Amino acid sequence: MHLKILSLPGDGIGPEVTCEALRVLRHVAAQWNHSLEVTEGLLGGIAIHQTGSPFPEETARLAADADATIMGAVGLPEFDNAPPEKRPEKGLLGIRKALGVFANLRPVRAYASQLDSSPLKNHLVEGTDMIIVRELTGGIYYGTPRGISEENGETRAVNTMTYTRGEIERVSHMAFHLARTRRKKVTSVDKSNVLENSQLWRRVVVEVARDYPDVALDHLLVDNCAMQLILNPRRFDVVLTENMFGDILSDEGAVLAGSIGMLPSASIGARRPSGAWVGLYEPVHGSAPDIAGQNKANPLGAIGSVAAMLQYSFGLQAEAAAVDRAIEAVLTSGHVTADLRPSGAPATTEQVGQAVCAAIK
Ligand code: IPM
Ligand code: MG
Repeated sequence: MHLKILSLPGDGIGPEVTCEALRVLRHVAAQWNHSLEVTEGLLGGIAIHQTGSPFPEETARLAADADATIMGAVGLPEFDNAPPEKRPEKGLLGIRKALGVFANLRPVRAYASQLDSSPLKNHLVEGTDMIIVRELTGGIYYGTPRGISEENGETRAVNTMTYTRGEIERVSHMAFHLARTRRKKVTSVDKSNVLENSQLWRRVVVEVARDYPDVALDHLLVDNCAMQLILNPRRFDVVLTENMFGDILSDEGAVLAGSIGMLPSASIGARRPSGAWVGLYEPVHGSAPDIAGQNKANPLGAIGSVAAMLQYSFGLQAEAAAVDRAIEAVLTSGHVTADLRPSGAPATTEQVGQAVCAAIK
């Protein structure tokens, strides 16, 4: 197979973890005889520095042209006080929207060998295996009107949370489909005791559920969900939620996995004529500028995102499973980065990437 990939390393630790993700991808391509074409583009703070825009037109063109896009992270402290329009994060929101990747899949697993890296008690975390399906191209992140204005001597800030039936339907179908490949349970998370937006969300999810009588559906309010994730994480299989709730809950999920550096993600949307998903693959973690350039960031979230890319964009199940198994083998070996609190000397970013390659069979 020919794999045409766009790489967007981005800011902070983005280039380091992307480098290891690509190392693993090259290794897989060589082992299974796939040809690989990797182009590099600009997104985020580095794109602002080099072109003035966080999401340059050239990047949009390259992404539209590629089979799949792999990303590092975006965000730099020097933009902390910039308005949303001029921030690196705007580039990320821009490419998600441009590619139409409306469903963000964020698996959260507690690996047996990593139970001690979580601050939570082992017996609570053990066996956690869920996937958060976060709506990614709607809701308060994109709603208008938005902005800060001066009115009658008072400063006012507005954001708008908006969803259409169609937007809720398509991401719900994705969640129910996924549940069928897993433990057949969807938990929809909303704030329908306060927000009309969530009332529509719940109504539409209930309607979509009728097409999947073999899948169990329950609902949690987002505040209660935040608590249940910590109290009883094994109760979750597929968690379906809107954009901002999913952003918040997935960072909480990272605590169950031991480190945010562990979490991969796949953002998918439309299908290409070939049947492959249009996909954007990125670790859940941010750019961590405080440890950038030190070869100590955990690349496993980025490497797990490569596995997700092989699976969703290319349907290469054997290759994807081999990468996942190699990640697990490296975790079991204990030669991991400092965030996972290894008992011996921590491994470097590069060593972890090399170890994953060596463990791929
Ligand atoms: C994430 C990140 C992004 C988001 C930021 C960087 C815009 O936190 O992917 O979870 O909020 O979606
Ligand atoms: Mg986030």
